[in-house]
Amino acid sequence: MEITLKEITKIFQAKDKSETVAVNKLDITIPSGKLIGLLGPSGCGKSTTLYMIAGLLTPNEGRIYFGDEDVTDMAPEDRGIGLVFQNYALYPHMTVRQNIMFPLENIKVPKQEALQRAQEMADLVGIGELMNRKPKQLSGGQQQRVAIARALVKKPRVLLLDEPLSNLDARLRLATREEIKRIQRETGITTIFVTHDQEEAMSISDEIVLMDLGVKQQVGEPQDVYDDPYNLFVAKFLGTPPINMIPGEIKNNQVFVKGAKIGGKVAKNQDVVVGIRPEGFNIDPKGSLELEVYMVETIGRDTTLIIKNFEDEEKSYRVIVDARHRIQPGDKVKFNIDEDKFYVFNQETGERL
Ligand SMILES: Nc1ncnc2c1ncn2[C@@H]1O[C@H](COP(=O)(O)OP(=O)(O)OP(=O)(O)O)[C@@H](O)[C@H]1O
Ligand SMILES: [Mg+2]
Repeated sequence: MEITLKEITKIFQAKDKSETVAVNKLDITIPSGKLIGLLGPSGCGKSTTLYMIAGLLTPNEGRIYFGDEDVTDMAPEDRGIGLVFQNYALYPHMTVRQNIMFPLENIKVPKQEALQRAQEMADLVGIGELMNRKPKQLSGGQQQRVAIARALVKKPRVLLLDEPLSNLDARLRLATREEIKRIQRETGITTIFVTHDQEEAMSISDEIVLMDLGVKQQVGEPQDVYDDPYNLFVAKFLGTPPINMIPGEIKNNQVFVKGAKIGGKVAKNQDVVVGIRPEGFNIDPKGSLELEVYMVETIGRDTTLIIKNFEDEEKSYRVIVDARHRIQPGDKVKFNIDEDKFYVFNQETGERL
């Protein structure tokens, strides 16, 4: 089911009357049957957005639609949503089976049918064998799947996941996110997955919605957003290691960094910020941009060259090259820059030129 947010705004007022605009005129359409990653730094309004969709918070302004239906004033229990929080809060004294069946008892589903539906959901998320255990007898990943099964058992129209993996260790996080992707595909349920982890969002989402300071920054398929960021924030937020931001200049429709011409850009003469992806540097004896290598880290297939940033020592630049290049600290290396791996941004606004 398609979800539409129309210009929703949420303002929190503190006791001293100071106001926080947590979500600011947010317009999003979430396509039916897709998995959407709602992504952004801590405090950007992701959870607030999710809780407004769930009905746990009411927007100050704007409307929320499920399909054609305006659900803005509808109670959470009438919306047909399944919600999973970061700390999945299973009932510790109940078995896995009782935990999963619990939402059905509330709506008086007959016992036999409830048992059967709980088993189906448990099988779907891969914990069908663990029905008699108590939560404390499960690993974190298994507990998370119980929480997902419990959210799915009422056959919700929408599945809302708020940082569902953040309590898991790195390996389990990876395995569980693939599990979530599989469950979403198999059920075809419209799912919103909140995370501040760009890699997590990029890897499982059909589309990502990137927010900052309560404002939508960009929406699209992960690779499209990565390849074509609208502004400096988006370019910086996506990618590991992050994009290199280097002061530069446009002169006669040419882009210069550190005095070297790296490519063309039709725009008026001005100082700019040039973003170059770490993988956009090619070692080339005829390359225009010469950089002195400060440190070299080789991990498996890739070598990362660390280039000292003399303007700001904290922020060194990172260049990824093939590990077959044997480069030493102190080497001066010449590069050319891939045409589609650098972006030019307005110095004041951060908008892409
Ligand atoms: N109940 C509340 N009262 C006052 N301010 C709030 C309340 N809930 C959230 N905020 C503020 O609204 C902003 C958005 O919060 P929100 O929880 O939506 O962020 P988030 O993107 O989910 O962050 P995180 O990644 O840390 O979970 C923050 O500045 C936060 O401090
Ligand atoms: Mg949150």
